[in-house]
Amino acid sequence: MNTPSKYGIIGKSEEIQNLIATIEQVAPTPLTVLIQGESGTGKELVARAIHHLSLRKSKPYIAVNCGAIPSGTLESELFGHRKGSFTGAYEDRQGFFEAANGGTIFLDEIGEMPLETQVKLLRTLEQGEFIRVGENQARKVDVRVLTATNRELSEEVQAGNFRRDLYFRLKTITLLVVPLRKRREDIPLLAEFFMRDYSDQNNLRYKPISPAAIKILTDYPWEGNVRELRNVIQTLCIMERESVIRPETVLKHLEKSSLYPQAVRDSRLPVKVHNKDIEQVERELILRQLFLLRQDVEEMKELLHGALSTPLNNNQLSDISTMINSMKQIRDEDISQAELNHDHSSISDMEKEMIRKTLEKFYGHKRKAAQALGISERTLYRKIKDYDIDASQYK
Ligand SMILES: Nc1ncnc2c1ncn2[C@@H]1O[C@H](COP(=O)(O)OP(=O)(O)OP(=O)(O)O)[C@@H](O)[C@H]1O
Ligand SMILES: [Mg+2]
Repeated sequence: MNTPSKYGIIGKSEEIQNLIATIEQVAPTPLTVLIQGESGTGKELVARAIHHLSLRKSKPYIAVNCGAIPSGTLESELFGHRKGSFTGAYEDRQGFFEAANGGTIFLDEIGEMPLETQVKLLRTLEQGEFIRVGENQARKVDVRVLTATNRELSEEVQAGNFRRDLYFRLKTITLLVVPLRKRREDIPLLAEFFMRDYSDQNNLRYKPISPAAIKILTDYPWEGNVRELRNVIQTLCIMERESVIRPETVLKHLEKSSLYPQAVRDSRLPVKVHNKDIEQVERELILRQLFLLRQDVEEMKELLHGALSTPLNNNQLSDISTMINSMKQIRDEDISQAELNHDHSSISDMEKEMIRKTLEKFYGHKRKAAQALGISERTLYRKIKDYDIDASQYK
């Protein structure tokens, strides 16, 4: 089959065709681009395509996930630092902007960028210069900036988390990557492409997906978008032995994939659980409650610690009240029940198990795991480090 694809972007829907046309239009210009779309829609793919179609294609392309770098070090990672400017700055270091000179920098999850760093970025965008942490002298740089977010940045501006001036600077050219459920005609193409790709990569026989099974895939909501579809097809390709993928097989894998639907993340409680006995469901519920309780206490400590030096702003006050409310929802019986069931293992063990299971479910994708656990990606990174979990094994 000849899959309609350009620059690695597969899709025949009008939405994808328009997206490709806009990419071709903006790529050769020096303009800053904001790529907006839900998680897993292909924003990173779009950023890469823009760079490769630009006049800078033979120069560096550096992708930075602003959500994954601790907020305290993001500025020095981006702009570099001078030796001795903070504890741990043992030598002068150049940042990503200098490394990307002449090329493109892709600032992923721009909504996670701390306000102080946003000011510095705006200056770089406006004046083409930046200052290394601990220096006074501005340095010139020629870098094209691409950004992406899966948040509604205008809401972040309203909430005081994102600078209005930077928002207006960034949003001039916005590319919207439409969720997969709004361009369902692309689903069969993507499914067949991934099936062929994984079969080739793993030296496995190509297993066609039956038309009825394709229909099921096409009707599924795909909250995790193309990434979720890719993961489901990967499992089908590697785990299933049948010569043609049947609808029952697809259903079985979709049930696993939707174990933590959006509602869980919203309500922080599992609402729909398939094929599990009640005891296991209860156990997971309790583990989850304990996990969240510990999490809330830790985040509260961090907030209060910060408040010792600066007065609390409205967002922090509302965070605290949300945490207190969610802590109130945890019933004493849940905790004593959990202790009864788990007198042999400490809460830390349970937390570690919970993180492991979630990472496994999301194939090591930390942002999705953090979302499912209801914690920030940064906190998840810290916990992975604290518990010495090897997240790469789940990829
Ligand atoms: N249209 C597409 N054609 C082919 N592959 C795609 C397409 N869209 C997404 N993918 C694949 O799906 C996976 C997820 O895409 P990507 O990482 O670009 O998503 P994202 O929008 O950056 O997600 P996040 O917000 O979670 O970072 C990648 O493996 C990517 O190659
Ligand atoms: Mg991405």
